[in-house]
Amino acid sequence: MSSPAPYRVLFVCLGNICRSPAAEIIFNAVAAEEGLTALVQADSCGTASYHTGSRPDRRMLSALERAGYSYGGHRARTFRRADFSEFDLIVPQDEYNEQDILSLSRNSADAARVRGMWQWFAENERERSVPDPYYGGAEGFDAVVALLTRSMRKLVAELKDKLIQA
Ligand code: 4NP
Repeated sequence: MSSPAPYRVLFVCLGNICRSPAAEIIFNAVAAEEGLTALVQADSCGTASYHTGSRPDRRMLSALERAGYSYGGHRARTFRRADFSEFDLIVPQDEYNEQDILSLSRNSADAARVRGMWQWFAENERERSVPDPYYGGAEGFDAVVALLTRSMRKLVAELKDKLIQA
């Protein structure tokens, strides 16, 4: 019997050098801790193309390293319409990314795959964005890693229920 196709998750931000590559790295680490590595597959991209081909921002890689995560070699790419067919879940990091992606959706099935990262924030976190750390200091990058780690535990727990009961 062949194993089922992995559930595919795409994290999206503006430049694909700070928030979404961090989300991808943290998702993969949390999924591995939960024994889901064979069942899920993650990628990340940006809505803008300025950084296409670049490695994640060094400040983000340092923050990830401080939190114990390691970088697997991602290079930035831009969101494309075909991603709606290639991913089961598309996770924008803020409402601007969400609007940009939804403006490219072809139908309601495409739009239904889009769920903002804030859906997995704690109840008392009312913001609807992972704050963009690009123009700030190191503490902003550490805060993004902490927020994504908390949120990813909830997202991965939800997927574990869905994929293991399926
Ligand atoms: P990201 O952060 O969307 O989290 O990758 C940014 C990266 C680049 C720029 C802004 C935000 N930029 O203006 O170049």
